[in-house]
Amino acid sequence: MSSMTHAAYSREFERRAMDLSITVNGIKFPNPFLLGSGPPGTNARVIAKSFDAGWGGVVAKTVSLESAKVVNVSPRYGRLRSRDTGEVIGFQNIELISDRPIDVWLDEFRQLKKEYPHHVLIASIMEEYEKSRWQELTRLVQETGVDGFELNFSCPHGMTERRMGSEMGEHPDLTEEVTRWVVEVATIPVWAKMTPNITNIKEPSLASVRGGAVGVSAINTILSVIGVDLKTLRPLPTVEGYTVPGGYSSQAVRPIALRMVSQLAQALPEGVSISGIGGIERSHDAIEFMLLGASTVQICTGVMLHGVKIIEELNDGLAQFMTDKGFETVQEIVGKSIPYFSTHMDLVQRMKAAKRIRAGESSRDNDWAEKSITEKTEELTSERTAEQE
Ligand SMILES: Cc1cc2nc3c(=O)[nH]c(=O)nc-3n(C[C@H](O)[C@H](O)[C@H](O)COP(=O)(O)O)c2cc1C
Repeated sequence: MSSMTHAAYSREFERRAMDLSITVNGIKFPNPFLLGSGPPGTNARVIAKSFDAGWGGVVAKTVSLESAKVVNVSPRYGRLRSRDTGEVIGFQNIELISDRPIDVWLDEFRQLKKEYPHHVLIASIMEEYEKSRWQELTRLVQETGVDGFELNFSCPHGMTERRMGSEMGEHPDLTEEVTRWVVEVATIPVWAKMTPNITNIKEPSLASVRGGAVGVSAINTILSVIGVDLKTLRPLPTVEGYTVPGGYSSQAVRPIALRMVSQLAQALPEGVSISGIGGIERSHDAIEFMLLGASTVQICTGVMLHGVKIIEELNDGLAQFMTDKGFETVQEIVGKSIPYFSTHMDLVQRMKAAKRIRAGESSRDNDWAEKSITEKTEELTSERTAEQE
């Protein structure tokens, strides 16, 4: 601190003191950052560590009634790296839901709520297409004192062979029916987690709302094949010579997730919350989701690649953004950029009104031959603003 100017010091102090809490569906989150369902929330020990590190909440790894039916394979991850820097920009998994017995989970949920009463613990649940099973799981988990449910209608691989996960999210009638089963017995808020592997994410999301969900989480992973080994000709990740398509996550999916979240923000009824997920690693990424309508955000792969400590930059970066832009509460950020979506025709009209239509006309398709393709591409490209450090 000694090297800081007085102004910088007071700014730093203000940043630390800022209230980052947000109340969503009646639950008070200390900050809007949650671990997304997956390895970062795979047992009570890792969840406790993340609470200690500063996370506002956790969506635990998805649980079901019969863990013995869940058998994972190895290797089950694959990475796509940037050609220039080697940084991981895409990540694929063929991991299933939790393979830990439900009784163990119930004990751990109880324990966590006892030790961390002010942190938010959301249980992610998934079952076969049977009302009694969904309702039994809901009752068992609810009794432990968790704060909310996230219904996993969205894992794209493995579980689908038992008609679970995205098999439900891909069929809005099932999404609605199963949500209704859960809501019939749930006394805590229910969110439904959506698969992006559909044409229109609004349909299953609105179906879950008709079924009684008060929040929508989006997105789960995008179906993918991460690559093929050119030596062995085997697609990756290769398990005993074979593979299955998996779920794609990390930075590369973020624009798709942002688009889907923005569509939900425009389509969901007032009061239904959005938890934004997909490729978030830094505060900059998280704020984008919030500006497009998410009141909480979840991070899974980012934590697997960089560790729970990224919460420090997430919290500091959000506080800094709020100070810089004059936002007093996190809630004020939510959906702030949604009014700036329009139609193509409207954009053309706005350019005309701004007397900039020649800029559009001067880039007609015939002109591409006048410059190199790369130069012309550069000329027409708009860049995301530089990250705040
Ligand atoms: C290894 C791995 C395991 C996952 N397991 C689950 C899961 O059990 N339940 C679930 O709802 N989502 C699961 N997900 C999906 C993530 O929660 C998240 O929706 C997705 O990965 C996109 O966010 P990200 O880019 O921050 O990872 C998993 C993701 C990964 C990478």
